[in-house]
Amino acid sequence: MPKIVLLSGDGIGPEVCAEAVQVLQAVAPDVTVEPQAIGGVAYEQTGQPFPKRTESAVAEADAVLLGTVGGAHNSPWNALPRPLRPESGLLALRQSMGVYANLRPVKVIPGLESLSPLRETLARQVDVLIVRELLGGAYFDPRRAIEGDAAYNTIGYTRPEIERVAKVAFAAAQTRGKRLTSVDKANVLEVSELWRKVVSEVQSAHYPDTVLEHEYVDSVAMLLVKTPGRYDVILTENLFGDILSDLAAVIPGSIGVMPSASLGDGPGLYEPIHGSAPDIAGQGIANPTGTILSVAMLLRHSLGREAEAQRLEKAVERALETVRTPDLGGKASTQEVGAAVLKSL
Ligand code: NAD
Ligand code: IPM
Ligand code: MN
Repeated sequence: MPKIVLLSGDGIGPEVCAEAVQVLQAVAPDVTVEPQAIGGVAYEQTGQPFPKRTESAVAEADAVLLGTVGGAHNSPWNALPRPLRPESGLLALRQSMGVYANLRPVKVIPGLESLSPLRETLARQVDVLIVRELLGGAYFDPRRAIEGDAAYNTIGYTRPEIERVAKVAFAAAQTRGKRLTSVDKANVLEVSELWRKVVSEVQSAHYPDTVLEHEYVDSVAMLLVKTPGRYDVILTENLFGDILSDLAAVIPGSIGVMPSASLGDGPGLYEPIHGSAPDIAGQGIANPTGTILSVAMLLRHSLGREAEAQRLEKAVERALETVRTPDLGGKASTQEVGAAVLKSL
């Protein structure tokens, strides 16, 4: 019986997770779901944003479903020492699970084309998988400090860190259009020079039939808006991937519909790519689609249940034809979207 640890977290996390868990239990009635605390809520309960109890539960899980963490800009959590802040709990979770490859697929859900900020003709062409390195770069590099009126961070990468995420991205490209764009800033950064070299070596050694291109991150930000249909798989480092994936995430009309999977050599972590949306938390209007589609990714990547994953994705498409939360221009509540997905399953 697969065990899923549920980390609902802060803000709209518990609202969207409640719907996603119902859907999970409908599609995979044999799973057990164990709730644990993370983020600001966990800090309030235990003094830690990633408590030991949560860490042990996660270590025993077959997969983890996460909501969101973090408070509003004026939240007292933001004044805590950095290791105690909600976001540090999320980073500690990723690190403890060893999930180094974050998969963020961006595709416009059929029927939602007119909601895209891009012209419909452009939006329809979008089908890109962003593979974001998740455990390296500025996020985790220990060479960082505030020293009085000076401060610095460091974007360090080693060959093995680049190789392992590149292999995930090339393997994904094999199942799609066999085109990979590696995104860097090699015209300025030494770390990008190494990135470029290692990615090219992985390609020629293991994936010679995949077309590899290298592009600069500033240019990709522009082209993702201008001609987004040109991309199949985008591979990039942690910080660039964070930024580019939010940019790409609004192409389908709302960041609220975007799922993600974070994979390593063990169990996977599944979460929507949006944050805790403090501006709408508690109102029952958050879009649960990104979290529900993260359940589909969980079924696919951690439980090996491709047929169920596709069934769920189709059910989401059908539900969104008529039932939409306000971010998609509708009037439905979070619960109504969850119920509509259950009904169309
Ligand atoms: P956000 O993604 O929370 O919100 C950005 C905008 O999108 C807001 O207007 C919000 O209402 C809207 N939105 C987001 N998700 C939505 C949904 N499911 N349905 C409808 N509308 C939705 O980003 P932010 O405001 O920059 O960050 C808020 C907090 O979330 C911060 O504390 C930040 O650190 C945290 N955060 C957490 C994660 C995560 O847990 N993975 C990701 C990003 C940000
Ligand atoms: C994301 C978020 C996180 C990140 C934050 C909350 C630490 O923005 O999952 O994209 O930067 O990775
Ligand atoms: Mn982000």
